[in-house]
Amino acid sequence: MRFEQYRLYHVWDLLVALSVTYVAVVTPLRLVLGDVPAIGMTALDGAITLILCLDVLVQWHRPESAQRLAVSRSSWAGSGRVVWRSIDVLAAIPFMLLAGTTILSLVQLVKLARVAQRMQHWRHHAVQRANVLRLVFFVYWLLLTAHWLACGWLALHGNTTLADQVVVHGFRRYLRALYWSVTTLSTIGYGDLTPITDAQIVFTMVVMFLGVAIYGYVIGNVASLLANIDLAKRHYLEQMERLGAFMRYRNIPPRLQRRLRDYYAHLWENRLGGDDEAGIMAALPESLRTEVALFLRRDLIEQAPLFRGASHELVREMALQLRPVVFTPGDYIMRIGQYGQEMYFISRGTVEVMAADGHTVLATLTDGAFFGEVALLFSQPRNATIRAVDYCDLYTLDKDAFDHVLARYPEFAAQIKEQAEKRPGDEVIAHPERAAQHALPHQSSHCPEAE
Ligand code: CMP
Repeated sequence: MRFEQYRLYHVWDLLVALSVTYVAVVTPLRLVLGDVPAIGMTALDGAITLILCLDVLVQWHRPESAQRLAVSRSSWAGSGRVVWRSIDVLAAIPFMLLAGTTILSLVQLVKLARVAQRMQHWRHHAVQRANVLRLVFFVYWLLLTAHWLACGWLALHGNTTLADQVVVHGFRRYLRALYWSVTTLSTIGYGDLTPITDAQIVFTMVVMFLGVAIYGYVIGNVASLLANIDLAKRHYLEQMERLGAFMRYRNIPPRLQRRLRDYYAHLWENRLGGDDEAGIMAALPESLRTEVALFLRRDLIEQAPLFRGASHELVREMALQLRPVVFTPGDYIMRIGQYGQEMYFISRGTVEVMAADGHTVLATLTDGAFFGEVALLFSQPRNATIRAVDYCDLYTLDKDAFDHVLARYPEFAAQIKEQAEKRPGDEVIAHPERAAQHALPHQSSHCPEAE
């Protein structure tokens, strides 16, 4: 299913949820207040009936993937489609118009099961703020319950002890009933509105039990719910606390402590979340991983002059092979004379290419540039030292992947070789035999360090 189509279903579901909510609020109210609906109300009723009827068709024709997503998490899933279809059809029957009685319209409330189902779906598919949604949905059901109980109280002719009961009509009567239901549900129970008849006493007791259950649920859940609202932030604070404890325990010198804190702060500010990218990617199935990798790295790859005009397959391959790494200001990414097993692409940040003396800057590379290819290409030690100037978000490509890509894409190999030729590094260290070593990289992956 295409994304726009998916969004359209979301909007439709929201419209249906609003319509059902309207029915759930207004129908019991009409029943207990016995009000004849005004013209505006009837027009709205007509529109809502139309929406509910259309929903039967929409649900019928909903593509399989949407159905599956919608139903999979639901406890009703086992009962299958028949139950859902019956619910949709039942809710679409305009009892008010057909039979002229409001009480039958209560049947339409079965459609609330659909609302609950959609809520579950939204919560599971909320990209962000799933916990906020959870809270919102909880408040929704709580308000609806308080409303129904208020209607029940009115139906049993509550408010009997109120002095002004005789003159209080319509909305004010309802308001007082709602006040009763909220005070009883919240277990506050001021006692200014008390049950008199037997039915009222039984009803009050039921509401009290319900109140205690809801109160228990609230105490148990809302605290953790609020704490979970910004899970990422909590995770970050926990990480910082652990880091603090570790640094104290290990007597890390203050300068290094500052650098460590700065590093975590950088990850947090840039919403990188440390090695999360690698972790999350590793857990994905192959096809999704490719898509996410392409999305995350395509810009970086395409903006690098090296890949201008590169084929789609090459970009795809590179996207899959690259691994993210972060360096902090002043870090030595590689030192001259070392043997290296990877090359780097700069996603964001600046590095300095330095000569053997440790302060002559041969070049400054920034976003979109790459380095570390010479050692891989010619199987030789690094010909320069590379130092991060600021926070650098880099991607590495290891030697095996590098060799593989070069062997498969000869034009790319030629291009990268041409670039490498222009990067002599520091001649003091550079090996004179390099020129003779122009063997194809996959033929030679010799690494003395490994021996
Ligand atoms: P490598 O020898 O693997 O490690 C050091 C890297 O520094 C080298 O690959 C090149 O990518 C890079 N490098 C060396 N000299 C220069 C230069 N003059 N300009 C830009 N980059 C360089």
